[in-house]
Parts: sequence; structure tokens; C-alpha cells
Amino acid sequence: MRTQVAIIGGGPSGLLLAQLLSTRGIESVVLERKTRDYVLGRIRAGVLEQGLVGLMEQAGVADRLHAEGILHDGTLIAFAGQMFRIDFVERTGKPVIVYGQTEVTRDLYDARQAAGGQIEFNVESVTLWDADTDKPHVTYTKDGQSKRLDCDFIAGCDGFHGVSRKTIPESVRHEYEKTYPFGWLGILSETPPVNDELIYANSDRGFALCSMRNANLSRYYIQCALSDSPDDWTDAAFWDELRRRLPQAQADRLITGPSIEKSIAPLRSFVTEPMRWGRLFLCGDAAHIVPPTGAKGLNTAASDVHYLYSGVRQFYEAGDTEGIDSYSDRALARVWKAERFSWWFSNLMHRTPDQSQFDLRIQRAELEFLRGNAGAQAAMAINYVGLPY
Ligand code: APR
Ligand code: PHB
Repeated sequence: MRTQVAIIGGGPSGLLLAQLLSTRGIESVVLERKTRDYVLGRIRAGVLEQGLVGLMEQAGVADRLHAEGILHDGTLIAFAGQMFRIDFVERTGKPVIVYGQTEVTRDLYDARQAAGGQIEFNVESVTLWDADTDKPHVTYTKDGQSKRLDCDFIAGCDGFHGVSRKTIPESVRHEYEKTYPFGWLGILSETPPVNDELIYANSDRGFALCSMRNANLSRYYIQCALSDSPDDWTDAAFWDELRRRLPQAQADRLITGPSIEKSIAPLRSFVTEPMRWGRLFLCGDAAHIVPPTGAKGLNTAASDVHYLYSGVRQFYEAGDTEGIDSYSDRALARVWKAERFSWWFSNLMHRTPDQSQFDLRIQRAELEFLRGNAGAQAAMAINYVGLPY
């Protein structure tokens, strides 16, 4: 089989790239190791930057997003029993849209399959060959049959645990990583959200986040020990701990209910450089990971996809390699700013065992400065709504 772009991974990065390429008649084949239902079963964050919304519009898959997404003009920061608001529109002129990233992936699957886009599910043993030449190919097995896909480009959209990043020789790769000594225990409940905007809370018992998917589907998180497992937490214990981490007025208003999903995610900051090796281009979680605090995972994958889509288009439509040659530097320039914001916001909002009394006072001073300074709030808002592509 032959195509123009072989896309490894059928998550949001791979699907968005495939859909955008198809709008310019550029062929691709998506190779996904799981099933569509498995991919859609993963619960992911729900805050979309305008840049991602624009790409979904460009890809022709933004109708449901605009119909069901919720515009958020700001967010709330709680600490020391008090709460203040960061007004995104006042500071940047832009809101964010709250719409489950799982729904983004669902919309992209629906569009690809309606268009007859080629997606191979349940593939195994994906191997990338000759990626450092101008005739790369991919081999894999499906239903026990060995397959070969010849292509012009390979997009490694296969996430942190995928095969693409590891195809780049270790002598070429430089990896940067920071792990955090805590996790996030998340609950999904069919209850009205405690507030109409998100609440990020720094309490002396640890971090909490109140988010949502719609008017009757709430998403809550509390910082937990890395040694915890979801089974260690009954729903009642979760709700009780969440209440203890919120200002009293919000704790009193919290409507609880049975969890329909409960999971723990570790936090990590990670970047691999370069994001290109020959005809292999890494996108999204295959190249970088952020702690979820700033909701930058998919939004940073989206800017990667934007740069790669632009470069591949330039190659086919103008015979110009400037876009693909500058891909890695352009993508990494924005990736590192998202990494910095996610790291900064995580440090601002979480409590860790190794924090000294001095560290805690510095954290408090940073929160007080953010509460009282327009410039600090503008800087936070500019990063949260998304830096330009
Ligand atoms: N072969 C084929 N497919 C693979 C392989 C492989 N060897 N390894 C992983 N995959 C698939 C996974 O099954 C998954 O569906 O690649 C996909 C990668 O998807 P994600 O991990 O969601 O990564 P990405 O598409 O970059 O999404 C980035 O989106 O949902 C948000 O916040 C989330 O940061 C994440 C962001
Ligand atoms: C979510 O709704 O899952 C969510 C929202 C904002 C974040 C992280 C997760 O920063």
C-alpha cells in the first residue's frame, strides 16, 4: 500500500492532522493500535484554546463544538479560604471553550470515517523504516497479516508510549524531564458543576480543581499521593476531601453524586528534541508531556499539527521544504512556553512534602501578587487562553 503521509496514532493529534490534510487532497493513512471505542474511552481534559477551535473550523469539524461547547470568559483561583477571578476577556480579549477533548476526538473520528478516510485499527508491531531517507515506509501486522505502507512522510502521533520517538536514534535525541511527587485523582459525576467557571484551589491539604463537561456532568480532581490507587478512595472520601480544599461557600454548594469514572494520573513535564528526523515528524504527546494544570496537552498538540500541516502543504503545493525544515524549531519554541506555563501553574497551586516554610511563604506571596496585580493576571491569562501559533 502507498500513501503520502503515514500517521502513527489515532488520537486527537493524528486525526486532526489527517482531517486537515484531507481538506487539501493530501492522502494519509492512520495506523491505530487500539479500537475507536477504546480511544474514545479515555477521559481527557476539557479546555480548548481558540487556536485549536480555529483548526477544528479549518478541518470542517467544529459544528458540535460550537453547539455544545461552553464559552468561559475567566477562571477562579482559590487560596487561604478566599477566591479571585482571572478575567480572560478583559486581559486578552479571548475566552476559552470548555468541551471534552474526548468529544474533539469523537468529532474527528466521525469526520474521517464519513469521508472514507483510511484508519487501520488494532494494528500491531508498527515499525518505521528508512525515516532518515526520502523513501520511508512503515510495516505492521493486522489480523495476523504482515503489511507495508510506503509514504513520503511519517507523522509520529502515537503518544508518550508510542514507537515513533524511539525510532529517532538516541545519539540524535535530547530528552528533558521533570516528574512531580503527586498525582491527580479525578472523578466524573452526573451532577451540576459547583460553579459556572473552573476553580483552581491551593489549600493546605493540597490542590483541587472543579471543572465540568456540561450543565449536568462535572469533573473534579484532588491532588493525591503517587502511592494511592482509585480503589483507596470511596466516593464519600473524595467528596469530603474536595470540600475541605474549597472555600466554605463553594464547599457548601457542592452537589455530590456517584462517580461514573474515577482514575489517577501522574504528572510529568517532558520534551524530546528534535521533533523531526528526516521524513519523521513527531506531534503531540509523542514529543512532549505537560502536567494537566494548565490544560495544555491537546492545545500544544494542536499547534504542532498546525505547523506540520502547513509544512507538508507547502511541500506538495509549492515544492518548498521551508515549512518542514523549520517544523521542529517552530514547534519547540511554542512547546517550551507551554511547558513553562504548566510548570509555573503547577508549582503555584500544589503542596509538596519537600516544601520548606520559606517555599510556602513564597508560594503565598506569588498568589497574593497574582490576586492584586493586573500585569500578573494578564500574563496568566495570555498563557491560559493560548499563545499565538
Ligand atoms: N502503533 C499504533 N498506534 C499507537 C502506538 C503504536 N505503536 N502507540 C500508541 N498508539 C496510539 C494510542 O493508542 C493512541 O490512540 O496513538 C494514540 C496517541 O494518542 P494520545 O496519547 O491521545 O496522544 P495525542 O494524539 O498526541 O494527544 C495529545 O490530547 O487527549 C489529549 O491531553 C491529551 O495530551 C494529550 C493530547
Ligand atoms: C478537565 O476538565 O478535565 C480539566 C480542566 C482544566 C485543567 C485540567 C483538566 O487544567
